[in-house]
Amino acid sequence: MRIKYTISIVFFVALVIIEKENNIISRVSDKLTLKQTPQTPLQPSGSSHMLPKHNGSFTVLSKMDSAFTLMKRRLENYSEHLDVTTSGRKHILLLATTRTGSSFVGEFFNQQGDNMFYLFEPLWHVEKMLTLDTGGTNATASAKAYRDVLQQLFLCDFSLLESFIDPLPVDHITTGLFRRESSSSLCEESVCSPFIKGVFERYHCKTRRCGPLNLTMASESCLQKEHRAIKSVRVRQLETLRPLAEDPRLDVKFIHLVRDPRAVLASRMVAFAAKYKNWKDWALGGSVPIDDDEVRKLKGNCDNIRMSAEIGLKQPSWLQGRYMLVRYEDIARFPMRKATEMYRFTGIPFTRNVKSWILKNTQASKEASGVYSTQKKSSEQVEKWRFSLPFKIAQVVQNVCGPTLKLFGYKFVTSEEMLTNKSVSLLEDKVFSSSIE
Ligand SMILES: *[C@@H]1O[C@H](CO)[C@@H](O)[C@H](O)[C@H]1NC(C)=O
Ligand SMILES: *[C@@H]1O[C@H](CO)[C@@H](O)[C@H](O)[C@H]1NC(C)=O
Ligand SMILES: *[C@@H]1O[C@H](CO)[C@@H](O)[C@H](O)[C@H]1NC(C)=O
Ligand SMILES: *[C@@H]1O[C@H](CO)[C@@H](O)[C@H](O)[C@H]1NC(C)=O
Ligand SMILES: *[C@@H]1O[C@H](CO)[C@@H](O)[C@H](O)[C@H]1NC(C)=O
Repeated sequence: MRIKYTISIVFFVALVIIEKENNIISRVSDKLTLKQTPQTPLQPSGSSHMLPKHNGSFTVLSKMDSAFTLMKRRLENYSEHLDVTTSGRKHILLLATTRTGSSFVGEFFNQQGDNMFYLFEPLWHVEKMLTLDTGGTNATASAKAYRDVLQQLFLCDFSLLESFIDPLPVDHITTGLFRRESSSSLCEESVCSPFIKGVFERYHCKTRRCGPLNLTMASESCLQKEHRAIKSVRVRQLETLRPLAEDPRLDVKFIHLVRDPRAVLASRMVAFAAKYKNWKDWALGGSVPIDDDEVRKLKGNCDNIRMSAEIGLKQPSWLQGRYMLVRYEDIARFPMRKATEMYRFTGIPFTRNVKSWILKNTQASKEASGVYSTQKKSSEQVEKWRFSLPFKIAQVVQNVCGPTLKLFGYKFVTSEEMLTNKSVSLLEDKVFSSSIE
């Protein structure tokens, strides 16, 4: 069915092109006729813009020749595009923010097997390079850089990314690619150059001993793979990636991973304890008010996530069938079911490799058999934050992230007792239907 459809499109496109080229050719032959009419002697002789009449046919021939070459090239271009879309190559972008479990969910794609070229946080280099002295980045400038680097990487072109790696790679060789070992594609045999004694590589492969990363080899390996996936916690606004969705060379699927902002903050407070010391003191009754700047940042993050999701769920035509929203809490409770849904959305077969990785690394084996205690155990893990986050801080998050909580179905807590009462679920059952084509 699909093949028939494709063939008709190819045929139609070819006809249109041939028709267009015919126009050019007939215009050219009109000129030929004109030129072959004898020049009037009134023309000033030796005028440089006039062609001698016996030379006319040469010009025309060469014009026709170039018209045909152009036509041929265009046809080749069109068939290239059709090849990409009909070959079913998918480009998955896992979008998240920090502390949402994105490394774990990224593994669903990293473990896919020989078919997948997976990159873990390549935009780390871009963000680092574009960080200003103030500690922030120029959102406009970085959004553009993120988009362009992602677009190139999906086409297996590392050149723009290379320009952001510090120190700059020499002959496409680098010892500094961030978290190389987290991408199994960058530690495969075919991307593993011989180990060099004495050369230190911070993020070296764990599965085999390799020399510094040769990005030419990485690019060659990428081109061989059927699908490509990238995980990133750095894109702020989904809309900035619109050109990727509209690039005819790509078939991009955005998976947007979100998590309860209260849980994210609780996790940050553990990871960056010093930074949040004020918050803790304040929550425990201290008089020093919490830093406005941090509250503003929290609100900014929540708003960005919400606005991206609102666009995605609204399904504008450029995102049709390309956006899926997933809550980390649902993945933690039902990893196998959610992974299956994600793979169904991407249109890539769910491999045995991924299944067995999930079985090994989660409680999913029991999820299937519906053992209540196991489910409870998983949700306990994902709800640990409820016992570490002071109620006063949960309230701050609810104040600044209210619309975000509502959109994703995270229930507000109204008391300390409610926050820490395990029998009260803070998760509404919610189906985000945008992923259905
Ligand atoms: C025909 O014209 C081209 C320039 O358009 C000139 O280079 C060439 O020598 C001419 N050939 C003859 C046979 O006059
Ligand atoms: C073919 O595609 C390339 C890039 O994809 C473009 O630069 C070129 O102009 C196209 N050629 C024609 C004849 O359309
Ligand atoms: C951010 O970068 C853009 C160009 O990329 C520039 O036009 C703009 O002035 C910059 N904004 C700030 C605040 O520096
Ligand atoms: C990197 O890989 C490419 C492609 O395999 C190869 O041609 C090149 O020589 C390699 N570079 C180095 C420095 O080994
Ligand atoms: C916890 O919530 C449940 C259900 O709402 C309620 O029955 C129970 O009394 C609560 N427990 C405490 C200690 O507040």
